Amino acid sequence: MPDHVKISFAKFPAALEGIVVLLAAEPAEGEAPALAPAVEALLAPSGPLVAGAVQADRFTGKSGKSLELIAPTGLDASRLIIMGVGKVPNLNAFDWLKLGGAIMGRLPASAKDVSVVVALPGGEVPAEAAAELALGLRLRAYAFDRYKTKKKADEASPKPKVTLYIEDDAAAKRAWKKREGIGEGVVMARDLVNEPANVLTPTEFAKRAGDLAKVGVDVEVLGEKDLKKLGMGALLGVGQGSEQETRVVVMRWNGGKSGEAPVAFVGKGVVFDTGGISIKQAAGMEDMKGDMAGAACVVGLMHALASRKAKVNAVGLIGLVENMPDGKAQRPGDIVTSMSGQTIEIINTDAEGRLVLGDVLWYAKERFKPQFMVDLATLTGAIIVALGTEHAGLFSNNDTLASRLTESGLTTGEKVWRLPLSAEYDKLIDSKFADMKNTGGRFGGSITAAQFIQRFVGDVPWAHLDIAGTAMASPATEFNRSWGAGWGVRLLDDLVARHYES
Ligand code: BES
Ligand code: MN
Ligand code: ZN
Repeated sequence: MPDHVKISFAKFPAALEGIVVLLAAEPAEGEAPALAPAVEALLAPSGPLVAGAVQADRFTGKSGKSLELIAPTGLDASRLIIMGVGKVPNLNAFDWLKLGGAIMGRLPASAKDVSVVVALPGGEVPAEAAAELALGLRLRAYAFDRYKTKKKADEASPKPKVTLYIEDDAAAKRAWKKREGIGEGVVMARDLVNEPANVLTPTEFAKRAGDLAKVGVDVEVLGEKDLKKLGMGALLGVGQGSEQETRVVVMRWNGGKSGEAPVAFVGKGVVFDTGGISIKQAAGMEDMKGDMAGAACVVGLMHALASRKAKVNAVGLIGLVENMPDGKAQRPGDIVTSMSGQTIEIINTDAEGRLVLGDVLWYAKERFKPQFMVDLATLTGAIIVALGTEHAGLFSNNDTLASRLTESGLTTGEKVWRLPLSAEYDKLIDSKFADMKNTGGRFGGSITAAQFIQRFVGDVPWAHLDIAGTAMASPATEFNRSWGAGWGVRLLDDLVARHYES
């Protein structure tokens, strides 16, 4: 796992060496940026130097702006970086995460020892905020470079050691202990999404999910024989044209009261989506290695919950399959029988994600009788047209679950936007020959996909997140420069932490 930063916490020191990062708040109009008293004291030996630089650069402490001085006279620092954080009372958890990412982004490649003084005017910085900042550092430091042979050979940049100086370092350490596992979960999900499909087959994916045993997750892998026995004809039909075997992985974390119904997370894990016989065009098809981002998120989430010992019973289920065209592949017009007994006419073999989810959701419901189910899937191109890359599509049969997800989205910055479900849309997937068909025509493509999935969840409170726009090919942010975003891990961890832990 790429992990290019070592993070620790300590109490405020008297002087600092190496690269020193300070925070400055944006004051009322026309005034100099405001520093914490501890920071003022640290800067005192440099005399008017810093104040002069502030003036010359017109640095105001605005969020996103920073001021940099190399080897400032009077200080032992080799480099001084002052980060603007904007107006202090407005800072939320997501701002602290982005700030951590921005700090990481300002460090030179040669950085070895870095001190970040986590202090602002107007009172102590909460431990949670410092931990969120640390998470931002960690996530920004992520790079998927395992196939870059030249960079590996000279190992140019060493792992920097970053020390966060904060008044209550013990509390910050405790908060980071909880956050660290979430960071690992996001990194894990990014790694899986970035990995190419010649390496990450369903079998290899299942093996990597097996590593969760190390943090106490119970992992069970179902092979094709098991899936046939269960009657998962919809899922198996998708994999029929591939040389790779289909798998379902069941991950269980029992951190809650024994006997309490679990919360369930289900992920689409199409390790590569050619479209099958309804083959996709060549341009951009390489992106379909990321069509397992839903499954990747579920694995990352299970890691996060287990490593912070969340007081919840949680199950994660992922359907792992490759959608390929060949002599054995399923055809348009084929009719398959799902585990639920409902039959499906295949109109377009490229609408495969819903076939995967239909069987896995049904299985999750039957076997675990969960409190709720949330599925994540890179399901439709239409959701990218509708919402772009800023929000994932949210569909739900339950207003409470939907509003909780919306709230967690705002807190974590992994935002969701609810779209409708209704009987009128549902009619669009009725079939002439079977109980339903797997596409609903050109209009409302993300909605008809969700209507399809809803036919496999019964009365269980359920939410579907269409993450085709948010999980991959992500625009650069302060805390992510990777193609795979690891989207959803922080969102769902927050959902569980807020509402479902005993
Ligand atoms: N995996 C794709 C959706 C997708 C598109 C994800 C772009 C990420 C980026 C999905 O399996 C698919 O092919 N959906 C079709 C459905 C259609 C055939 C009804 C689509 O969106 O075009
Ligand atoms: Mn497809
Ligand atoms: Zn797909």
